[in-house]
Amino acid sequence: MTSKQLNESVDYLIEKGFHKPEIGIVLGTGLGKLAGEIENPIEAFYNHIPYFPLATVEFHAGKLIFGELEGKKVVVMQGRFHLYEGYDLIDVTYPIRVMERLGIKKLLISNAAGAINLNFKKGEIMLIEDHINFQGGSPLAFKNVGEFGSRFTDMSNPYDSEMRTKLISIAKQENISLQQGVYVSVLGPQLETRAEYRMLKMLGADAVGMSTVPEVIVANHLNLPVVAISVLTDECDPENLQPVNIEEIIEIATTTEPKMIKLFRELIKGV
Ligand code: HPA
Repeated sequence: MTSKQLNESVDYLIEKGFHKPEIGIVLGTGLGKLAGEIENPIEAFYNHIPYFPLATVEFHAGKLIFGELEGKKVVVMQGRFHLYEGYDLIDVTYPIRVMERLGIKKLLISNAAGAINLNFKKGEIMLIEDHINFQGGSPLAFKNVGEFGSRFTDMSNPYDSEMRTKLISIAKQENISLQQGVYVSVLGPQLETRAEYRMLKMLGADAVGMSTVPEVIVANHLNLPVVAISVLTDECDPENLQPVNIEEIIEIATTTEPKMIKLFRELIKGV
């Protein structure tokens, strides 16, 4: 990755009309509906953006959408790149660097995750307080990282305190039950064994998923305030584990999505 490549991606988008978005949003699996609510949308398919990772067949619909939400200019990623699809960590986080160069000042991330903390129920939302990177690599481990920011990026408070506080009070106001906890990212794409769920719990995780952490590391690298929420789609109880049902996971994501949209909309309104 070079600065020149990033600038070419950015120039393409500016040419299309992506003018000075204030907020970037990443929509997770089964959580794409907010994209349809953007006013005056301009779309750019990932496949058409210079130097964007080349999308897989099943992922041909991935796109960046620019427009307005709650009167703010936003850029939304409908569909993200996952490590488990065969991309590397630099690919996975490339769009974050592009959105930052487009001018975003805040980043909002969502994902679908499994509940490790058994006090949390599927269909609830968890605000990510902190994370454990369990994907076996870093999006900052490349030779010329110094051109883009500090190699030894501070991670003492990776999720923006101000936006977290706002989300907590929005949830209260809106009567949305919002859990808080630690998200652990794994490579996937296979789900966890019972022994792995036991281990993740012992390590201090409250939820597990296959994304988000690389994007958050890069946001911190760029000094870009970031906040992330997990839609809890399944309960990972090792003593009573049911075979995974991807249809059910997607269905829970879809039925929980309106709460996530409410939280994000109110947050956007207030920032
Ligand atoms: N494990 C990993 N990723 C997930 C899960 C899970 O149980 N549920 C949703 N995404």
